[in-house]
Amino acid sequence: MSRITILGGTGYTGSNIAREAVARGHEVISFSRHAPESAIEGVRYRTGSMSAELPDLVSSADVVIGALAPRAELATGLTDVYATLAKLAAQAATRIGIVGGFSALRPAPDAPRMAYGDDVPPQFATEARVMAEVIDELSASAPTGLDWFYASPAATYGSYAPGEDRGTYRTGGEVAIFDASGSSAISGVDFARAILDEIEAPSHTRSQFGVAY
Ligand SMILES: NC(=O)c1ccc[n+]([C@@H]2O[C@H](COP(=O)([O-])OP(=O)(O)OC[C@H]3O[C@@H](n4cnc5c(N)ncnc54)[C@H](OP(=O)(O)O)[C@@H]3O)[C@@H](O)[C@H]2O)c1
Repeated sequence: MSRITILGGTGYTGSNIAREAVARGHEVISFSRHAPESAIEGVRYRTGSMSAELPDLVSSADVVIGALAPRAELATGLTDVYATLAKLAAQAATRIGIVGGFSALRPAPDAPRMAYGDDVPPQFATEARVMAEVIDELSASAPTGLDWFYASPAATYGSYAPGEDRGTYRTGGEVAIFDASGSSAISGVDFARAILDEIEAPSHTRSQFGVAY
């Protein structure tokens, strides 16, 4: 059993991870500004100010999952939040896992991340770039000794496309993976399954991985 704290545990990604984590018997804390519309039994919900609460949230967890989205007030501030999280986690010897974007993956080895190209739909361009900057920052300057991973969901992923529980997924590295028909998709439930599998049996230490069917 691990103590898992989910920043943004009431959101689309965070709530799926929280549900999977309690179902597997972990101790789960969700942190967000507001209480959830419908609580998941077994999850402990905390609300408040991130800057005030982060040190305690980090020091009281074995693993902190960042499931915040770079939108609204975090559109410009999320890179700083995750940089602070990395510092605190290194001091506390807490593992962190950041949920990022599909466009933070590369189309080919050594090619720039897709977020830095012109093919991202305009409505997602800022969010994609911020989450690419987060993995660049982790890769370049995560504190020595910090145990981190960064998980990118497939292209078709999100509250607009919750998908189904197939009980399966594949992982790739920094390069985007596609199924035999050329599509890239993952449901919220199966993405959460991949995150919990990574927490329980770490295989992506200090690295990025993609999750898709
Ligand atoms: N295909 C893709 O690449 C794809 C698609 C979707 C999402 N994503 C990525 O997945 C990650 C999560 O996105 P999501 O759509 O699951 O997010 P979401 O549903 O919008 O949830 C965001 C969560 O963060 C919390 N939050 C927001 N501002 C906060 C603050 N200042 N302090 C504390 N908590 C705060 C929200 O609760 P409160 O508002 O109550 O604070 C909520 O729990 C992001 O990195 C996003 O880019 C990728």
